[in-house]
Amino acid sequence: MERIQSYIEKNKKRFLEELIEILKIPSISADPNFEKDVLKTAELVANGLIKVGLDNVEICSTEGYPIIYGDKIIDSNLPTVLIYGHYDVQPADPIELWDNPPFEPVIKNTEIHPDGAIFARGACDDKGQMFMHIKAFEAMNKSDSLFCNIKFMIEGEEEVGSENLATFVKENRKRLNADVILVSDTGIFSNDIPSITTGLRGLSYVEVEVEGPNRDLHSGLYGGCVANPINILSKMISSLHDKNNKITIPGFYDKVLLISEDERKEMSKAPFKKQSYIESLNIEDVYGELGYSTMERGSIRPTLDVNGIWGGYIGEGAKTVIPSKAFAKISMRLVPNQDPEDISKLFSDYFTSIAPKGVNVKVTPHHGGKPAVTPIDSIGYKAASMAFEKTFNKKPIPIRSGGSIPIVAMFEEELGINTILMGFGLDSDAIHSPNEHYGLFNFYKGIETIPYFFSFYSKLFKSLD
Ligand code: BES
Ligand code: MN
Ligand code: MN
Repeated sequence: MERIQSYIEKNKKRFLEELIEILKIPSISADPNFEKDVLKTAELVANGLIKVGLDNVEICSTEGYPIIYGDKIIDSNLPTVLIYGHYDVQPADPIELWDNPPFEPVIKNTEIHPDGAIFARGACDDKGQMFMHIKAFEAMNKSDSLFCNIKFMIEGEEEVGSENLATFVKENRKRLNADVILVSDTGIFSNDIPSITTGLRGLSYVEVEVEGPNRDLHSGLYGGCVANPINILSKMISSLHDKNNKITIPGFYDKVLLISEDERKEMSKAPFKKQSYIESLNIEDVYGELGYSTMERGSIRPTLDVNGIWGGYIGEGAKTVIPSKAFAKISMRLVPNQDPEDISKLFSDYFTSIAPKGVNVKVTPHHGGKPAVTPIDSIGYKAASMAFEKTFNKKPIPIRSGGSIPIVAMFEEELGINTILMGFGLDSDAIHSPNEHYGLFNFYKGIETIPYFFSFYSKLFKSLD
């Protein structure tokens, strides 16, 4: 282990420089204008895998962006760890709110990251975190200390719903066979309180359209006489929560798995500081479902949020008009055992049923994903816990996250393999937002912690026989 850690220490600077090269390419999977860049990133990552000594590296084409595969099988008696990550990133908009251009990485110190953080789209989600695994492998391989067989699967469509990954997984069951999947695409509680993510929320995402009159109308001549689609849409949306901030869609909570009071008590031990949370967001108070703490609202409870709303006149000055149409994008975060398709259907049925006469409502479902919970008594969890304890000198706490990684439930279903979510980002790292960044402390801590995972996992695996 010492050889590995000293290899990391000696090559730290180069690791960062290599990450910077990857961050420079705008691999935005949602926007077809960046197709070439996404493909270029795939190639860069594949070359990175070859360079560190992985075998069978392949850029596997799909109907969409390619999935990169590579492996190193050293001994069939050793366990196999499958690493998953993504090389695509979210769009950088609104670009004007970035202090530095999103694809020209810069390192700056912040209050939370006194040792510096790298600012770029994808720095934390997920290029920086995915790259830690490639460098951890390099360090293990160059130190002749591979404790497990390893497989890499890095995709380029995570931010747009991983639509082609399920097909790839189904067609490559044998190739992807492994004992555990290891993913760094989540966060830790804070840099001095390490945590392991044990739950992710699912997602239903819908787009709604409310259509009123067949054309935009003069708001004086017609105002008061016909349904205004924006007024109606706003009314409909606000009726989706009641005064206690419970979601009003009939059946929405039916399948929600309630958490025992004991587990809630256990969860509430995490040292969440409401005051600094409020201050960091510059808000007067938190807001959410009655009867639950902020930590609970953001993890074990389902939500419904408008992500975008538009229609009518939004240009300079005033234009008096009743628009013909209004639109919104709405996400619902789901918890075990809610099913995204069921929920989209419940939403659609209810939303169309509450539309008054005088408008037509259309609901189009987008990609979704199932929630996931991972056990804490597996050898994978134990190995991760021991690895964190080594590098942070503190036992990590299990934490459920509010975010979604739909492939975790899919891997379990299709491959029957559990995933360990060993993330190193902070919630304040602004993923999906302007000025996304990733702490250098976190980047290096990740590279140091991963080899310990392999070492402990291999030991615990052996002790099972
Ligand atoms: N890495 C994130 C998810 C995440 C971040 C989980 C932090 C836990 C903590 C992932 O890239 C992501 O953004 N997922 C999307 C869903 C996806 C279907 C587009 C999300 O959660 O909005
Ligand atoms: Mn991600
Ligand atoms: Mn993301």
